[in-house]
Amino acid sequence: MRFQVVTIFPELIDAFAGIGLIAKAVEGGLMRIETCSPRRFTTDKHQSVDDAPYGGGSGMVMTPEPLAQAMDALDASVAREGVPAATRVLLTPQGKPFTQADARRFAALPGLMLVCGRYEGVDERVRSLVSEQISLGDFVLNGGEVAAMAVIESVSRLLPGMLGNALSLSEESHAAGLLEYPHYTRPRSFRGMEVPAVLLSGNHATIARWRRRQALLRTRALRPDLFAQLALEPADRALLDEEDEP
Ligand code: 6GU
Repeated sequence: MRFQVVTIFPELIDAFAGIGLIAKAVEGGLMRIETCSPRRFTTDKHQSVDDAPYGGGSGMVMTPEPLAQAMDALDASVAREGVPAATRVLLTPQGKPFTQADARRFAALPGLMLVCGRYEGVDERVRSLVSEQISLGDFVLNGGEVAAMAVIESVSRLLPGMLGNALSLSEESHAAGLLEYPHYTRPRSFRGMEVPAVLLSGNHATIARWRRRQALLRTRALRPDLFAQLALEPADRALLDEEDEP
């Protein structure tokens, strides 16, 4: 899969692309990460990519032309290889909240172009140049770069051949609309806190039921919004009604 990022901070994305599992996937040819800076397409001495808002007010707005030319330059680079242009996504706090379902949808695309705004915002007409707008949630970042890295990381780990562990992916939080059950490793006793006895029992069926119950309890307590979306089987209702471990 090919990721393309329009950003005035390409070094940030390049550094990210050079570390850990992402770097491995890039080296292994599983994906590519390319950047293009809108500054390349500025004409003034200061290479300005922003300007004061029409109508007045505080803050600066990213001008449309350098952003549009950066997107077009990335399209041209894929066209030279005879492949279709990447799907364009603008990262903005005004976007639709990004979910695991979006990550799965993006992972099936040949190419994803992530357009990072900065400053107070981007000229409204840039929105007409992208096919969707996504946000990481209801808080404000200085720019879309951290969001672009979050999207790349979540999408890349769904690419076939990335994790090498299909089971841990399917069991993970959000894969089934549930938060994950609690995990423990050595030591059995840590600062007075014990590993739950059921996990030491060796009884796989009992362990699976305990984990399922913990995931349900946790989701109900921490994410009532997710819990309300679940279509619970009678077996899950019964698990929730069980007594706690002694
Ligand atoms: Cl995608 N961009 C910015 N600037 N702020 C955000 C965001 C994106 N998602 C949450 N906050």
